[in-house]
Amino acid sequence: MNASTLDFDHVELLIGTVENASDANAKAVRSTVLTPRFYTTDFKAMDRLDVSPVRAEWDAMMQEYEGDNNHDHFQRDAGFADEVHAQMAKLSPEMRQEFLDFLISSLTSEFSGCILYNEIRKNIDNPDIKQLMTFMARDESRHAGFINQSLKDFNLGIDLGALKRAKSYTFFKPKYIYYATYLSEKIGYARYITIFRQLERNPDKRFHPIFKWFERWCNDEYRHGESFALLMRAHPHLLQGGNKLWIRFFILAVYATMYVRDHMRPLLHESMGLESTTYDYEVFRITSEIARQVFPIEIDIDHPTFRAGLETLLNCAVQDAKAREQGGLIGNLKRGYWVTRAFLTFARLYLLPVKHNELPRQVRLQPSW
Ligand SMILES: [Fe+2]
Ligand SMILES: [Fe+2]
Repeated sequence: MNASTLDFDHVELLIGTVENASDANAKAVRSTVLTPRFYTTDFKAMDRLDVSPVRAEWDAMMQEYEGDNNHDHFQRDAGFADEVHAQMAKLSPEMRQEFLDFLISSLTSEFSGCILYNEIRKNIDNPDIKQLMTFMARDESRHAGFINQSLKDFNLGIDLGALKRAKSYTFFKPKYIYYATYLSEKIGYARYITIFRQLERNPDKRFHPIFKWFERWCNDEYRHGESFALLMRAHPHLLQGGNKLWIRFFILAVYATMYVRDHMRPLLHESMGLESTTYDYEVFRITSEIARQVFPIEIDIDHPTFRAGLETLLNCAVQDAKAREQGGLIGNLKRGYWVTRAFLTFARLYLLPVKHNELPRQVRLQPSW
């Protein structure tokens, strides 16, 4: 099997099917290695953060948040619903499932940010961090709400209150929150801008109006990432010594998860005139380039072993899903084999040589992609 081009039986096994609102809600609640999670952290430690070493850049960023140039952006225009109805009728059942999977996982990850930022805001007194969290929670709540409207067009709206109560929360130390959230915000930017640019060049491939919103939307994500970059640069020990090993771990974990997840939706990318592997490497390239503002190392995304390793991880996910479907003792033994194989592959990728960066004096960078 060429793992890069999964046939739909495999896709279905991996993403499941959503037939009704209860399936959609159950999908959002599920937490696995590959689905977006909800996080909680050590609020007391976050209360002690001190942004004074980056004060000038911080204040300029706060002014941007206050200016709120996207305050009127997340509203649907008159033609939105009509366009949805005209286009959705043309989607094949397979494509519909992949698109729903995309909407539900995007909504869950937007909402995950909203909850985390809101919880931090409520549990700290530090005025700088409190102000930042208020702005970011505001943005993420708009993003999640906007995606949910599109799910409601299918009668598959997610009950966000119930999701907040039902989904399990993973505890992450603050530094892991900074590494992981910085990456997910910047990757979010890179993903949205790559899709937007592709559909800007090929408007006939824009099968849903939501993609028209991605350009201004991704600037919010970009700014959220800038905030974590400043927080980390204000506390340089987070970017030195043994912490570099954590940074390496998070970059690899985030890239590998994205690769496997995206390859579960081959039709979605194809219908935009993209191909999952090319799309993912473009997103890695943009993210790695941006991350030089803060991370002293980057992984070598062009290393042949890296590329082959991601394919192996994808194959492990497919084989594991097949074994799960098979069930019984044999199924369990097979699952054990594929999970171990995935773990060893990840370890092999972790040990590949990395590239080293000199951090720039000025942290912030204009989004120019
Ligand atoms: Fe967002
Ligand atoms: Fe964000």
